[in-house]
Amino acid sequence: MSRVASTQADAKQMQTWLNHKFDTESVARFKAGPGIQKLQLKFDIDKLRQCYRDMQGQLEDLGSGFHVMALTRRPGVEHPTPEDNCGRFWTRVDDSYAEVPRDIMVDESAYSEFNPLFADTYLAEVYEQLIARFPIGRMRVLGKDPYNCNSWHRDPEPRLHIPIISNPGSLFVVNHHCTHLPADGSVYFTDTRGYHTALNGGEESRVHIVAALPYAGQQVSD
Ligand SMILES: [Fe+2]
Repeated sequence: MSRVASTQADAKQMQTWLNHKFDTESVARFKAGPGIQKLQLKFDIDKLRQCYRDMQGQLEDLGSGFHVMALTRRPGVEHPTPEDNCGRFWTRVDDSYAEVPRDIMVDESAYSEFNPLFADTYLAEVYEQLIARFPIGRMRVLGKDPYNCNSWHRDPEPRLHIPIISNPGSLFVVNHHCTHLPADGSVYFTDTRGYHTALNGGEESRVHIVAALPYAGQQVSD
């Protein structure tokens, strides 16, 4: 395309873009898309929040704005090791766009015991409802401070997210699809086998229950 032609094409295209109605409302809601879906299953958000208030002081501060409490564990392992809080992921870190592996592979199916600390809470009912439907691996309460973002990476398995506390600036991105996940008791499927990140661009902390979905034989490996 000649310089004159590209100038005219860009100017005309810009006018089309400017004439398009801009959107500020739909981003305050959930929007399903490739890699992010909402389940039929729904929990009582008031009970979830009460559970979180009761356990809030026990979350481990992992630094960098991340907080965690394990809801499942390897049988009998009472105190999580650092390895329990990491696990293989792949990421692209520079403009070579080359993918590099990080951390060690984790056998999610080994996390088969519900944390007895929460045996008499609503969280146990949540766990029962989940395992009646899906294989569940590590299930954790994850807190994320304001203005905090995960790395851009992919995992060996998909995840379920159950937001407990959120805000409109808290977003989840899988590949090209981005959406807010409202904390209303909904359960969201996130296909974290694709590239993804979670970010909290809001002014309050965000808290989700996150559970790995280790379907037998389907874990992505190197
Ligand atoms: Fe991830």
